[in-house]
Amino acid sequence: MKGKILIIIYFISCNISYGYNLDDDEATVSVDEEEYAIPVPCRGYCEHTPREKRVAGSTVKSRIIDVMMRTPQLHLNPDEPDILSFLNDKYELPEGFKGPLSEYDFIVVGAGSAGSVLASRLSEGRKASVLLLEAGRGESWFTAVPILAPVFQQTEYAWQYLMEHQPGVCVGMTNERCFWPRGKAVGGSSVINYMIYTRGTPIDWDRIAASGNYGWSYKDVLPYYIKSERANLKGLKDSPYHGRTGELSVEDVPFRSKLSKAFLDAAKLYGHRKVDYNSPDFFGFSYIQATISNGRRASSARAFLHNNKKRKNLHILPNSRVTKVLIDPNTKSAIGVEFHKNGQVYQVRAKKEVILSAGPIESPHLLMLSGIGPKEHLKSFGIPVIQDLKVGESLYDHISFPGLAFTLNSTRLTVVEKKISTIDNVIQFDHYGDGPMSSLAGVETIGYIKTNVSKELGDYPDIELLGSCASLASDEGNIVAKGIHLEDWFYKDVYQPIENVESFTVLFMLLHPKSKGFLQLRSANPFDYPKLYGNYLTHPDDVATAVEAIKYIIKLIDTPPFKKFGATLYKKQFPTCKHFNFGSDNYWECAVRSITATLHHQIATCKMGPPSDPTAVVDPELRVYGVNRLRVIDSSVLPRTIVAHTNAPAIMIGEKGADLIKKTWKII
Ligand SMILES: Cc1cc2nc3c(=O)[nH]c(=O)nc-3n(C[C@H](O)[C@H](O)[C@H](O)COP(=O)(O)OP(=O)(O)OC[C@H]3O[C@@H](n4cnc5c(N)ncnc54)[C@H](O)[C@@H]3O)c2cc1C
Ligand SMILES: *[C@@H]1O[C@H](CO)[C@@H](O)[C@H](O)[C@H]1NC(C)=O
Ligand SMILES: *[C@@H]1O[C@H](CO)[C@@H](O)[C@H](O)[C@H]1NC(C)=O
Repeated sequence: MKGKILIIIYFISCNISYGYNLDDDEATVSVDEEEYAIPVPCRGYCEHTPREKRVAGSTVKSRIIDVMMRTPQLHLNPDEPDILSFLNDKYELPEGFKGPLSEYDFIVVGAGSAGSVLASRLSEGRKASVLLLEAGRGESWFTAVPILAPVFQQTEYAWQYLMEHQPGVCVGMTNERCFWPRGKAVGGSSVINYMIYTRGTPIDWDRIAASGNYGWSYKDVLPYYIKSERANLKGLKDSPYHGRTGELSVEDVPFRSKLSKAFLDAAKLYGHRKVDYNSPDFFGFSYIQATISNGRRASSARAFLHNNKKRKNLHILPNSRVTKVLIDPNTKSAIGVEFHKNGQVYQVRAKKEVILSAGPIESPHLLMLSGIGPKEHLKSFGIPVIQDLKVGESLYDHISFPGLAFTLNSTRLTVVEKKISTIDNVIQFDHYGDGPMSSLAGVETIGYIKTNVSKELGDYPDIELLGSCASLASDEGNIVAKGIHLEDWFYKDVYQPIENVESFTVLFMLLHPKSKGFLQLRSANPFDYPKLYGNYLTHPDDVATAVEAIKYIIKLIDTPPFKKFGATLYKKQFPTCKHFNFGSDNYWECAVRSITATLHHQIATCKMGPPSDPTAVVDPELRVYGVNRLRVIDSSVLPRTIVAHTNAPAIMIGEKGADLIKKTWKII
């Protein structure tokens, strides 16, 4: 019934033409009243239902933010330490428009890593009109400060997802639940991430292509990485694998601790080469390449949207929460979306396509709310089924263990929050974009290894190592430990005793977990978060690989480059692992199960695959199977784990997705 009414509205308004001139940014626009979308009062499920947990930005305890408040040059108001809105990046409609129109060529849902580049490319050359809808708000001055990266996970800049309780993981975390924050901002997770720039290896992409995903081999995707990139990397000025004219700035981190060099020196002792890990010769160690620009965070929004705010044909609407894709059940075509903004509900139509770029949790969530997903599952919530697909049935993630700590007998080697929180350091950062405030919250170096548990042939890693010049104790438990929801009693017992000595950690990332998770609807209410199941460490190989990784890290630190600073493994037994001998395999397994931290790379929930793949949700051109004019373009389409953190891959998917759409509609 509802579908029919919609279709009628759709056909009536199809013939309204634009009253504004698409050819000139500066031209004044005249928009007829009837071209605007008319909001309707909310019925049924409305915004801010009490079940959605709300968090306040000003409750985060941070000595760095405190000192920023006291830095006279920044002119902050100490009475209103609003880290969410200071110099907040505003997205207003271009001049001449007073609200969203009733119809656009393309509607992009989610201005994240992928959505930002996608919307910017589709609106290039003013050949098509684009509406970009984003649930979050613009970045603030604070989100651009790299050292503050972990702060925003506990603010309104993040969706506060929790994994369903899984016995035997996240045992040391609040209510034994793993915390899965995701970016909620114009720029998406690239506004709160750690800025590590990684692309995945030729083997990864060639395997994806070999399973029937034409157009996704390394040779195919490399040009898209290069297209976006504006690299400024020492020693790589002539590398053919880096772009120099793109919008996304990739730089060396200007701040380096002495431990970063020790990490590379130690790796050398074990025969690891120093490499450009974003080239085909990736198997080695390196300083991190980061998505920063002059020391400040280069989010996808900053790279692709900031300079395009005036485009008359690109309407960016923050604080706009999409609740449904409108689909004509007879033609099985996406015709628009419904979204909530400031308590009002709008239905806007797409003349050409609707594109979901809402990330690996919300894109599948929106598909299911719109009738696309596992048939029985949708039916059990009373959702009319439009297309039976395995939405949400695959989910992979990269887990890590931030719990190791090595203490030092020297000082000034690590970033201790208490010590670096000085007005001088703030001014240094504000003026020159360097100093400790430009550190990626301590993460400095990266290395790929293959443990002896791996069954892969050749140089294909199963573990990524991340060298850091900080540990969980470096911020006195106020930020990083809180960001993973580590229990206070756990922190106090294990880490508080080393707050007054310098300490650091080396993280591992389990690159190719065999454990597979999934996600499902919690209810038919779009404001209810879906149920998330990580199924971490349910495959024994994952446990064995994680344990090997820890032993490898300990070996790496037990070398002269680290010894000279007195680096010593901190041997405090975890309260959750008292029944195992410290350092035994069982102990390390228990340790990883106590502090099981995601690195936030959930993927595959709208898996890409050829028609022969029964688990695929989108085809290799990212079109949703069985539904016309609907694509998913974000990290959720990645069909399998890759040797990478997923920001740059999501941006690449956005770039490639834009080209696929342009080809379909002959917009060149
Ligand atoms: C804390 C953290 C640290 C990370 N660190 C790194 C790192 O150092 N390096 C790296 O490469 N990767 C990192 N990642 C991962 C990487 O940032 C993500 O994989 C990537 O940003 C995903 O891009 P995306 O476009 O798929 O989704 P996102 O960037 O998450 O974008 C989705 C967007 O859609 C919006 N949205 C969702 N639902 C709706 C709706 N219903 N209506 C309107 N808008 C909606 C969201 O608010 C969001 O802005 C990190 C992620 C997190 C969370
Ligand atoms: C792998 O190496 C570790 C030492 O790091 C050793 O204890 C273990 O026995 C080895 N396992 C195999 C299968 O070779
Ligand atoms: C730290 O320990 C190392 C190794 O034991 C030693 O060589 C070094 O002199 C010590 N440094 C300080 C400052 O005590």
